[in-house]
Amino acid sequence: MKNKTYVVVGGSSGIGLEISGKIAQNGGIVYVYARNSIESEDNTNLHFTPLDVTSGELEIENIPEIIDGLVYCPGTINLKPFRRLTEEDFLNDYKINVTGAVKVIQKFYPALRKSNHASIVLFSSVAAKTGMNFHSSIAAAKGAVEGLVRSLAAEFSPAIRVNAIAPSLTNTPLAATLLSSDAKQKSSAEMHPLKRYGQPGDQADAALFLLSPASSWITGQILAVDGGLSSVRV
Ligand SMILES: NC(=O)c1ccc[n+]([C@@H]2O[C@H](COP(=O)([O-])OP(=O)(O)OC[C@H]3O[C@@H](n4cnc5c(N)ncnc54)[C@H](OP(=O)(O)O)[C@@H]3O)[C@@H](O)[C@H]2O)c1
Repeated sequence: MKNKTYVVVGGSSGIGLEISGKIAQNGGIVYVYARNSIESEDNTNLHFTPLDVTSGELEIENIPEIIDGLVYCPGTINLKPFRRLTEEDFLNDYKINVTGAVKVIQKFYPALRKSNHASIVLFSSVAAKTGMNFHSSIAAAKGAVEGLVRSLAAEFSPAIRVNAIAPSLTNTPLAATLLSSDAKQKSSAEMHPLKRYGQPGDQADAALFLLSPASSWITGQILAVDGGLSSVRV
């Protein structure tokens, strides 16, 4: 990871911020893209460039010459009963989670191609595999992310590996309303077989593994980082 170059789209908050910090701590150079700047940008290995992935054709400035890893973090948790979800809700979730990732990968592809071991990491959700109340819009979008991962893993192989992480509830600004009281935190911890909800570091450790040579024979996979929720009943 040392002296290698990584792009973290959505690296200004939550899981992406944790990933950016860990890469920088390991000596990697990180190019962060998001709408709002990183709060403390005192690490010289972190470079921030403003970007809104939903804004039509993307004009991206400061694209590094060679990119060894790309992580795409923008996402949504838009939970509503199905009868209250509008077409706009579904399209908005698709836009941020799927077409945003598509446009970003297309822009960064030439630089990824110049590395001889590039890795792309996208974010799905536990809700794509396990049916949950009120998750139909986000589950549909994340299901599309998972299809995209497998297709691109085939198309880009062997030059670029493509995988996704599927988190369950993780303590970030995106999930703040779901963890906003002691009672919510307690019931969220309790619903997971490992009896706690996730922390950004749980997801970031998985992302660093998927970016690193330690995962060099892994592509087209969806790695569940979910406290056992999607596959274990206790
Ligand atoms: N947290 C959870 O419980 C959970 C559960 C399942 C799946 N996930 C998935 O994990 C991923 C990361 O989630 P998180 O909880 O870390 O979210 P977060 O705290 O909201 O962080 C999202 C990041 O994406 C950026 N972003 C959002 N919209 C953007 C846009 N239009 N253009 C550019 N950047 C944008 C945000 O920065 P700006 O706002 O400054 O642009 C921020 O840096 C998401 O894909 C999410 O769906 C999270």
